[in-house]
Amino acid sequence: MEKTEKDAVAKDYWESQAKTHKGSHLASWSDNFMIELEIDAVGEHISSGDHILDVGCANGYSAFQQLERHRDVGSITGVDFAENMIKQANTLKKAQWSGDVIKFEVGDINALQFDDASFDLVYATRVVTLMDTWEEQQVAINECLRVVKPGGKVILSEPFLEPFTLLNALRQLKDMPPLVEHDSNRFFKKELLENFLMNKGLSFTVNEFSSIYYLGSRFLRELVTDPAAYPGFNPINRIFYDIEKDFSGGGFGIQQAYIITK
Ligand SMILES: C[S@@+](CC[C@H](N)C(=O)[O-])C[C@H]1O[C@@H](n2cnc3c(N)ncnc32)[C@H](O)[C@@H]1O
Repeated sequence: MEKTEKDAVAKDYWESQAKTHKGSHLASWSDNFMIELEIDAVGEHISSGDHILDVGCANGYSAFQQLERHRDVGSITGVDFAENMIKQANTLKKAQWSGDVIKFEVGDINALQFDDASFDLVYATRVVTLMDTWEEQQVAINECLRVVKPGGKVILSEPFLEPFTLLNALRQLKDMPPLVEHDSNRFFKKELLENFLMNKGLSFTVNEFSSIYYLGSRFLRELVTDPAAYPGFNPINRIFYDIEKDFSGGGFGIQQAYIITK
């Protein structure tokens, strides 16, 4: 498939996710516990008065949650390339919030419509991974860095190949089929990302905010329960979500947050 055709298919997918799931978290991911953990991981870095950009904000689900939890922010702007996502976010905004403390616009992570150094905090959760190649992912990261102020932060919460490989090695020990996460070929490689950031002289920390949850929900769950008995919600997920909030680490969390200071 040609690149332009591939891009159009990907965009259509997100347009239809917005139509189908409207304001629900399902528009972006079915794993609500992961979304909650991710919102907490980003929220730790929000300070009073911050002007924040949520890149690839989907229907605004996480942006609204951040605003609920951090009412003293300066502003939250959400951008997404899917018009239907932005329409949905604006509908929810009208129903819940007045003024410009939160706003949504169509925008592309590869060419953001904002001036350099416009925001205190820029975050992208599960968006950069959607760019086809590491070269394109670098363009997207550079755009996020461009629009954040010097001293401000960019948070990237993205899936990584190393924990994916580790989990699959564990699963193999117990004769489980490998996890087949869609788009795993575009998962980040920690060394590549870290070298890229270090070459730019940027400091960063890593929040492995999902390790225990992934160990429970993507490995232990199948060892101790029959997944067929729980076609929808499996209570093991909640147990490991609760543990995750008190303890993390171990390298099993496919989704990890890099907190980069400009
Ligand atoms: C997996 S969802 C994540 C949504 C949201 N960040 C969250 O945490 O729930 C990916 C989102 O990125 C958007 N997206 C994909 N490519 C994009 C691009 N080039 N520029 C802006 N948004 C994009 C999609 O439309 C979709 O809403």
